Amino acid sequence: MPMQNDILKVLVTKEELEEICERLGKQISQDYKGKKVILVSVLRGAVVFFADLMRHIDCDCEIDFMAVSSYHGGTKSSGVVTFKKDLDIDIKGQHVLIVEDILDSGLTLHYLIDVLKMREPASMKVCTLLDKPANRRAKISADYVGTVIPDEFVVGYGLDYAERYRNLPYVGVLKKAVYEK
Ligand code: IMP
Ligand code: MG
Repeated sequence: MPMQNDILKVLVTKEELEEICERLGKQISQDYKGKKVILVSVLRGAVVFFADLMRHIDCDCEIDFMAVSSYHGGTKSSGVVTFKKDLDIDIKGQHVLIVEDILDSGLTLHYLIDVLKMREPASMKVCTLLDKPANRRAKISADYVGTVIPDEFVVGYGLDYAERYRNLPYVGVLKKAVYEK
């Protein structure tokens, strides 16, 4: 069965995603004008957004990747974050911008920021494509937000359920029947 059948509704269209990348890219370019920024993507969910966003950033930058996991196949954050891949770049004294797919409970990002701050970057900010504030459990907010969404489980444009649906070109709400069966 095609994966589109598992989508209840489209929440952020392809066109809206393009607008978000353009708007945030412009803002980031202005804010980091004359500086070099290390763009850090959190694998794997953020890679699609990351790739689109960086093409709208026109200041000097380097990219690096981290992998953490706070889910174990379900739809709710477990609160337990495992560190799977560290950065290759030494961020000491550098301007770091963490690029995330979604800020949900905030537990993952909170943990990540704690770890990275110990390395003494010159600055550290967060850019998230989606913000789901209803579910927040950690005291955290993003500096750049693509769009705020309601408390629904979404997939597509990098976001997954059990590693599927990442390749959908839009962000959609997953039918409950998919994960409640
Ligand atoms: P948090 O720790 O609850 O903020 O969630 C961190 C991670 O959970 C995100 O980076 C996503 O990978 C995943 N996540 C949270 N909400 C959703 C969702 O609605 N769809 C897909 N993944 C999600
Ligand atoms: Mg994820």
